[in-house]
Amino acid sequence: MDLETLILQPNQLDQAVVLLQQGEIVAFPTETVYGLGANALDGTAVSKIFAAKDRPGDNPLIIHIHDYSQVESLVKKLPRAARELMDKFWPGPLSLVLPKSETVVKEVSAGLDTVALRMPDHPIALELLKHGGLPLAAPSANTSGKPSPTRASHVYHDLKGKIPAIIDGGATGWGVESTVLDCSSWPFRILRPGGVTLEQLRELMPIEVDPGIYQQNNDQPRSPGMKYQHYAPDATVVLVVGDQITMKINQLADSPENANLKIGVLATTESKDAYPGLTVLDLGSRLNQKMIASRIYHLLRVADQLDLDLVFVEGFSEAKMGMAIMNRLRRAANYQILET
Ligand code: TXA
Ligand code: MG
Repeated sequence: MDLETLILQPNQLDQAVVLLQQGEIVAFPTETVYGLGANALDGTAVSKIFAAKDRPGDNPLIIHIHDYSQVESLVKKLPRAARELMDKFWPGPLSLVLPKSETVVKEVSAGLDTVALRMPDHPIALELLKHGGLPLAAPSANTSGKPSPTRASHVYHDLKGKIPAIIDGGATGWGVESTVLDCSSWPFRILRPGGVTLEQLRELMPIEVDPGIYQQNNDQPRSPGMKYQHYAPDATVVLVVGDQITMKINQLADSPENANLKIGVLATTESKDAYPGLTVLDLGSRLNQKMIASRIYHLLRVADQLDLDLVFVEGFSEAKMGMAIMNRLRRAANYQILET
């Protein structure tokens, strides 16, 4: 039978804390996307996350903490360079993958000998962590494979009836998930790009980039999450890159094979008027990467609400946040990419 899913306001955190302490799961806002949290020390509670999201059991979770003292009990060894990154970027959108201690239950690490940790930079998330006194294992609070939720209404859409509560903290800031950095071997390696950029990390130390960020990897990725289809709306998404993007999209939209489809474009403000007759969703200015990142998931969900069949998305440069933006767009497009 379906549960009633409560929407809690930020002044009702006490109710969320009680649920978490009872071994229940609760969705909460972070500065990146909404997370679906459970007591990270309770394997039964953590397994409820996998059931609610329909998440494959071999995809490990990030543990959220609010205090550096919690790191010690969760990791076996903390390299000095990882500590340096925590000092510089926490709280913030950087998850560090470290050798795990015995304390970390197998449901969190999905059988790996590492664990991902992060300290979120969001007042509600930090208050919940502090007040509850528990580290929280939390993936993004979407149904597996769907775009990550950047608003409480997105979580409600995917998980109503499956979780007891959602804390509504409004729209999240970054809108794409944290950077995942593997610190279990040297040099450290980016497994998933996010708000903390390659450029920022390389100012401090040498950093490798996992090839799975650019292409599909179905075999043995270092980050299990990279092998699953992700962030995909129901519409077919095609990513168009190069220097003739608007021309190419108009051409494709006009082609006879697409004649009976409801077509949309995720466009930048600069070119949004270049698609007469198509449904245009404005991602923001090309000059404002943060804005674009924050709108991607929301607009992919809007594309579904509008019942679009086919969505063309304009491509971006890979510099700075562009790496995270393009990584999410490639995956939303299931690697259907057209070069112009
Ligand atoms: O911003 C975020 O990171 C959000 C918020 C809620 O904190 N969380 C999030 O979690 O995006 P999730 O589960 O949707 O994505 C976590 C990613 C997955 O790709 C997973 O495979 C990878 O991190 N990951 C987690 N633990 C790992 C580990 N020990 N080794 C390698 N990859 C790991
Ligand atoms: Mg996710």
